[in-house]
Amino acid sequence: MKIIGINSSPRGKESRTRRLVEAVLEGAGGEGAETEFIDLCDLRIEYCTACGTCYISGECIHDDDFAWIFEKMLEADGIVLGSPVYLYGVTAQLKTLLDRMADAVHCQMFEGKYGCAVSTAGGAGEDEVVAYMNRMLNLLGAVAIGGVGVAIGADIEALVPAGANAERLGHDLASAIRERRSYPEQEGRVAELREHFRNLVTWNRDLWRHEYDYWVEKGRIERE
Ligand SMILES: Cc1cc2nc3c(=O)[nH]c(=O)nc-3n(C[C@H](O)[C@H](O)[C@H](O)COP(=O)(O)O)c2cc1C
Repeated sequence: MKIIGINSSPRGKESRTRRLVEAVLEGAGGEGAETEFIDLCDLRIEYCTACGTCYISGECIHDDDFAWIFEKMLEADGIVLGSPVYLYGVTAQLKTLLDRMADAVHCQMFEGKYGCAVSTAGGAGEDEVVAYMNRMLNLLGAVAIGGVGVAIGADIEALVPAGANAERLGHDLASAIRERRSYPEQEGRVAELREHFRNLVTWNRDLWRHEYDYWVEKGRIERE
């Protein structure tokens, strides 16, 4: 079982969010998972230009570190997303990565994967940011098993109980993967999204050839 944790704070080892991502990985490691921490800000990832080349060919026009991290995500059974709250959203670095994944969304490439999210805030917004990251996991076809968000304020000690919760989340993530745990309510939402993208790719089949071929090869639709 492979689980990767991606932190998107630009503060490197000083990042408080990093501590939560690492705590999740520690918990998962305790359940026997092979874990890897990735600092997104060590990578060079260009903006999506909306050219649509990936829909057509599966290739991106950019030659940067996206292919490397995307391969890591594809290989993983579990994905932990981490972001500090930046103006009630995720960091630009994480958003830039997610924007590059529209092809993966259309193809529902994360079907069968599990994930979770962690966030820290100065004062507020951590729950919205955790919910956003988990929603993105759903959009990619994965099941999100939970999250930990903490508003730290003036009390850095708030990270201690949050870290303990994050470690428990890591245990839970690994257990969910091992058991292929079912989340009926979320699976309904994921199934609705899959149906939406199945229709979208079918309507665009003459242009989005790579995506149509992907769905056909996965046996999810019959070639028309
Ligand atoms: C550009 C920027 C925007 C921020 N926006 C918010 C915000 O909207 N709400 C908030 O509570 N904290 C905000 N913060 C504070 C961070 O969320 C907080 O310090 C967080 O714990 C930093 O995490 P890190 O140590 O992992 O980088 C912001 C910080 C920066 C640099």
